[in-house]
Amino acid sequence: MRALASHVVERARTAIRERGRFTFALAGGSTPKELYELLASPEFAPLVEWSRVEFFWGDERCVPPSSSDSNYRMAHEALLSHVPVPPSQIHRMAGELAPVTAAEGYNDELRRAFPGAQSPETPPSFDLILLGMGEDGHTASLFPGSPALRESKAWTCAVQKGDQWRLTLTFPVLNAAREIAFLVTGAAKRTMLENVLSAEAEGCPWPSAGVRPTQGRVTWFVDRDAAPQSSTGC
Ligand code: 6PG
Repeated sequence: MRALASHVVERARTAIRERGRFTFALAGGSTPKELYELLASPEFAPLVEWSRVEFFWGDERCVPPSSSDSNYRMAHEALLSHVPVPPSQIHRMAGELAPVTAAEGYNDELRRAFPGAQSPETPPSFDLILLGMGEDGHTASLFPGSPALRESKAWTCAVQKGDQWRLTLTFPVLNAAREIAFLVTGAAKRTMLENVLSAEAEGCPWPSAGVRPTQGRVTWFVDRDAAPQSSTGC
């Protein structure tokens, strides 16, 4: 986790030096909490010019920001409430709104935050998008078999997973990123990680294998338990 924290700091410093700001989309779930706490720690927090950082989310559950299920709440408690980021630079997905309304609203938010992204053909290009991976190969809230996997224009979609609605960035945005950092831990994800890393071209059922930035790069941060021992694939 320290390696990823150092990597985030390095990418932030580079982006701020070269472009004046660092656009960073956070992952949800449980794994990143330790990373966010590390970034807020006395060891790492002084290394980042937080007033130049813009926070976004790769996905959110359709719940109020006060909910224990909220990805925003987890990031706020672990990181955002501990560092001096201007509130206007925290671009929260409005999980409390009706899903489709919230997705449309986030598309507007992205257009405002990324002046160069004004048409479906020019999606926002994040400096860094942090992603997790589920045991089923999902990432953000792009789940196997979901119609959202085929979305080629909208940058944010509302998706239903069981009885829960979620908001997610779509592949056009993920694959326009300068860098994607996957954070995957735990032996339960090892087999899927082997599948995703050895997946060939199109047609794979695992959404994480669909994250292939056209210009950017994908960096994997994997603990020993999740590290592949062999490779299989589709
Ligand atoms: C979410 C996440 C999701 C997560 C994976 C891994 O909202 O749940 O964005 O894509 O990254 O499910 O979750 P864990 O870190 O809890 O294993």
